[in-house]
Amino acid sequence: MVSKRNKYSLDPDDWSKQRALGHEMLDDMMTRLETIRDHDFHWPSEKEVKELMLPLPEKGTGERETYQIFKENILNFSLTHIKPNFWGVVAGTGSPYGMLVEMLVGGVNNLMAAKPGIGGYIHEQVIEWIKELLEYPAEAGGILVNGGSEANFTALAVARNAKAARDMKKEGVHGQPQRMVLYCSDQAHECIERSVELLGLGNEALRWVPTNENHSMNLNMLKKQIKQDRDSGYHPFCVIGTAGTTNNGAFDDFKALREIANQENMWFHVDGAFGSWLKLSVTHKHLSDGIELADSLAVDLHKWISMPYGIGCTLVRDKKAHFKTFVYGHEAEYIKSGQDLGDDQITSPHNLALALSRNNLNLKAYMLLRAYGREMYSGLVQQNLDQIKYFSGLIEANSSLELMAPVISNVVCFRYNPGGLGKEYLDSLNQGILQKIWEINFWIISDTHVKDQYMLRVCNVNNRTTKSDFDELVSDILRIGEQLMNTGE
Ligand SMILES: Cc1ncc(COP(=O)(O)O)c(C=O)c1O
Repeated sequence: MVSKRNKYSLDPDDWSKQRALGHEMLDDMMTRLETIRDHDFHWPSEKEVKELMLPLPEKGTGERETYQIFKENILNFSLTHIKPNFWGVVAGTGSPYGMLVEMLVGGVNNLMAAKPGIGGYIHEQVIEWIKELLEYPAEAGGILVNGGSEANFTALAVARNAKAARDMKKEGVHGQPQRMVLYCSDQAHECIERSVELLGLGNEALRWVPTNENHSMNLNMLKKQIKQDRDSGYHPFCVIGTAGTTNNGAFDDFKALREIANQENMWFHVDGAFGSWLKLSVTHKHLSDGIELADSLAVDLHKWISMPYGIGCTLVRDKKAHFKTFVYGHEAEYIKSGQDLGDDQITSPHNLALALSRNNLNLKAYMLLRAYGREMYSGLVQQNLDQIKYFSGLIEANSSLELMAPVISNVVCFRYNPGGLGKEYLDSLNQGILQKIWEINFWIISDTHVKDQYMLRVCNVNNRTTKSDFDELVSDILRIGEQLMNTGE
């Protein structure tokens, strides 16, 4: 019998062995997730890093042996932001089922999500579900991408092209009669600036509008800046609201931004990487009022709703503008020739973002959204908000701790301050506390500067956290703070 297996093949010659390795991997990872609370994080030593940094072996190390290396030399040093007591940056925790779904995604390994393939239908359904969850208009379209930065970039590319005075695809930014400028608050995420740079607009085109006491964009300053720009011969084309600032979980006044955008004929975009999900909360939903009015909305699925990294979504109200931006140049001729485009072509993922071949994000999102449904996701979001209320209550109740900014949603900015200490000493004391806290668990909390003031920061999008984790955090901070004061470190 002629062998159907080549000399060089990535399929195993012994499937039972491969299956056994798969089962072992699955068991190991399940056990890790089951016991994740007990795992400590360590930085790898120089020696341990060196062992990994070697010339690519001519003859491969082998699957089992390489898995062993993963277990011993990589896994142990993986960041444990998936632990219950992790509230640094804005990091989603994933889930065991999410991990299993990732295996399915890899197994199916589709490269495209276009109809009439099943991936196209699934993508469309996922976009419908996300729109429903976020109360975004039914006529809008959207695309799954790799995360919040990419979601913002994708939306801003559409905004730039849609609002350009001359054909952006053909003439580029240099062909525009006036310099295009856009606006965000001084609390907006840096990925906005990166997008602006990559879109060829130049970061000087981005106006960082000052914020109010509640960290939302100052609308009078925005209007003033727009007027000044118009008077100087610029073309204001887009205003960006933030739903959930990274620093402090603050929200802009989206209804007002919509009105200003209408008056000024500007695109209105919202970066709702994590804060969009307040739409699912009972107590804080009002903060997200008006994000549904945006021309485009960027949202992450790997942060607050804990899908495994990386997955985000760009929703765009004007499907055709979205399609026109990303469809290949020559294909865009269809539009000019007035040919009536079918919805399938306009909503096909390979026409809506940079990637042509793409990861099967649609399958991941479909499986998880369907498995858990609205109630679970609403519950998780509300649970985190309730926990933050509890935690900020602990801070308020303790005379050695101090809230440093209004607690708006899921972020608490605070510091250790037993009283009678100067600003400089307090800053270095709190920096010292952070270092010691990081020795217990790296990045368990982070620090930030808000309006030039140093503070510690907790951001809760963690589906594993319990209230008692915050009790422990408070007692650790108090103990360390007192210790540092006593030792004068
Ligand atoms: C408000 C906001 N926008 C955008 C981003 C970037 O998202 P990603 O890390 O998924 O690229 C973040 C990340 O924390 C964020 O907080």
